[in-house]
Amino acid sequence: MSLLTRAEQALSTHFEQAAGVGAPPRLVAAMRHAVFSGGARIRPQLCMAVATACGDDTPELTNAAAVALELMHCASLVHDDMPAFDNADTRRGLPTVHKAFSEPLALLAGDGLIVMAYRVLLQAGVQRPDRLIRLMDNLSTGVGLPHGIVAGQAWECESSADLGQYQRAKTGALFVSATCAGALSCGVAPEPWAHLGHYLGEAYQVADDIRDVIADAATLGKPAGQDALHARPSSAQALGLTGAIAHFDHLIDQAAGSI
Ligand code: IPE
Ligand code: IPE
Ligand code: MG
Ligand code: MG
Repeated sequence: MSLLTRAEQALSTHFEQAAGVGAPPRLVAAMRHAVFSGGARIRPQLCMAVATACGDDTPELTNAAAVALELMHCASLVHDDMPAFDNADTRRGLPTVHKAFSEPLALLAGDGLIVMAYRVLLQAGVQRPDRLIRLMDNLSTGVGLPHGIVAGQAWECESSADLGQYQRAKTGALFVSATCAGALSCGVAPEPWAHLGHYLGEAYQVADDIRDVIADAATLGKPAGQDALHARPSSAQALGLTGAIAHFDHLIDQAAGSI
């Protein structure tokens, strides 16, 4: 089974179990729209790939950790697209959650996904509390303060921000959580894998910045030209396209070198 298929199956199973029965139907529909709309699933696949390299001795725990990462990522996209942030109408080639369902439901869908992520992990980890505690801490590090997604998005609210710090927080941190989760779910020390997540995550955001400039909305499945429009710190703007591509290549070399 490919890692993508494994990630999709785990997401589907855990989402349905965690959503339960009897929740407000439009909320569940909004959360489903946020998750099952054709994402690349890069973070769960990265987690599963590292777990495979580490022996994958508890695949159900690895699957739950991978699902939790993707749910956090999807929540961050729902909130990021809202009018208070990037005010985007499309995501993954579809209307964004607030466009399809309303702003209150987008806010709640994001909140619901964040809580669901912890619950999925908690329920899968009761047999391995030693690993569970470290996985919970690792996930919180990628999402929260001082250097996770929430902090990264909040750098947009400061009068100035360091580009690298902003990108490592808003995108890189969850990639570090993804590689580390793959090791932690197997009871393996995560530190050597953190570098891979760090370099890949920063490279991923640099690539996103480049694509924001050179690609069109139909190719991206989301609006193009957003960084200039919202005056966001961007590698394409800071380094120029050639410089950003060179920076991307360097980060990918470092990622490969870290394995
Ligand atoms: C989009 O992430 C936001 C960034 C961090 C650049 P992805 O490119 O992984 O989005 P999906 O999940 O495939 O839609
Ligand atoms: C990165 O932000 C992703 C998040 C932290 C949600 P961007 O604003 O650059 O991502 P896109 O371009 O909307 O996917
Ligand atoms: Mg944004
Ligand atoms: Mg955005």
